[in-house]
Amino acid sequence: MAIDSQQFRSALGSFATGITIVTTRDKVGRDVGLTVNSFNSVSLDPPMVLWSLAKKSQTRQAFLQAGYFAVHILAADQSELATRFASRMDRFSGLVLERGEKEIPLLQGCAARFQCKTVSCYEGGDHDIFVGEVVSFEHFDRPTLVFLGGRYAVAVEKPDLSGQETNTSSDLGRNTLGYLFARTYYHLRVRLRPELARLNLTEADSFILAALALNSPCTAHELADLVGVSGYQMTQQDMMRLAQRNLIDLRGSGGADQVVQLADAGTKIVLNIASVSAAIESDAVTDLSYTEIELLKQMLRKIIRRTKAPWQKDPLVLESSGVEVR
Ligand SMILES: Cc1cc2nc3c(=O)[nH]c(=O)nc-3n(C[C@H](O)[C@H](O)[C@H](O)COP(=O)(O)O)c2cc1C
Repeated sequence: MAIDSQQFRSALGSFATGITIVTTRDKVGRDVGLTVNSFNSVSLDPPMVLWSLAKKSQTRQAFLQAGYFAVHILAADQSELATRFASRMDRFSGLVLERGEKEIPLLQGCAARFQCKTVSCYEGGDHDIFVGEVVSFEHFDRPTLVFLGGRYAVAVEKPDLSGQETNTSSDLGRNTLGYLFARTYYHLRVRLRPELARLNLTEADSFILAALALNSPCTAHELADLVGVSGYQMTQQDMMRLAQRNLIDLRGSGGADQVVQLADAGTKIVLNIASVSAAIESDAVTDLSYTEIELLKQMLRKIIRRTKAPWQKDPLVLESSGVEVR
């Protein structure tokens, strides 16, 4: 049966790998290196690894002659480096390098780094298979970059897909995004309440100040619309109360067109609430990895973009302020 090389490549792509950059130094002292995902472990004792290099690679002679090479397992934030070391550009330009065995170049910022002595080189079709004995290695505490289906990815712990957490009919509502969003929001708000009480602010006050923080100055009518998103109907008394405490400034005669602006004391309080909120948030995500937190934010932004109709204004931000949810 004839093998279609395109389909073969694509089938191989369903095997998730990490990504490495393998480097060495050629005989005239030039640094060489390329992006490699054929890296694998071979033996623990003695410690040995392998990788394969396309015979048509311009780096082939350097790796065959050098006798030593370094393998860098890339960290999750190094996909640009992977692209650079598979491109025609000057791969090492501007990089801060360290030097290893026989002056081979060592890259920084990776998840792990192995310096190896070449012990065998086998032919493997259109590739050469390099086997190296590890002479030293370093392991850094960084999440690794993953390569799957021709795309860069990150590894997160597999979610429970068994449905065991919510498998009774009475639990069904607890597995909706709406329930989970609302409950998360509620838990975070409850933790903020002692700070609001300390500042002698009601929930409504905090909504008004938060809306103003993004849109100051604006008219009373616009502010009422923004605060209305929280479900609270702002009143003239609310504004008077905050103005009496010098947290907001009111300009012009009362009514819908009155201009409302955050005063200096109001800005101070908003910053105070923001820093307490940040501490609450960072405690709430303690059990998530950095990668999971970034992934969660990315997913929420996608949902926000998707659920916002094209004709719909951002409900939390006035168009004139130009602040957009990204
Ligand atoms: C994710 C990824 C994995 C790669 N893995 C290998 C590999 O294992 N072996 C290899 O020879 N080339 C591999 N390549 C291709 C080389 O990095 C690329 O062809 C490079 O341009 C070779 O340049 P050279 O001719 O200077 O060696 C990979 C490229 C990418 C983007």
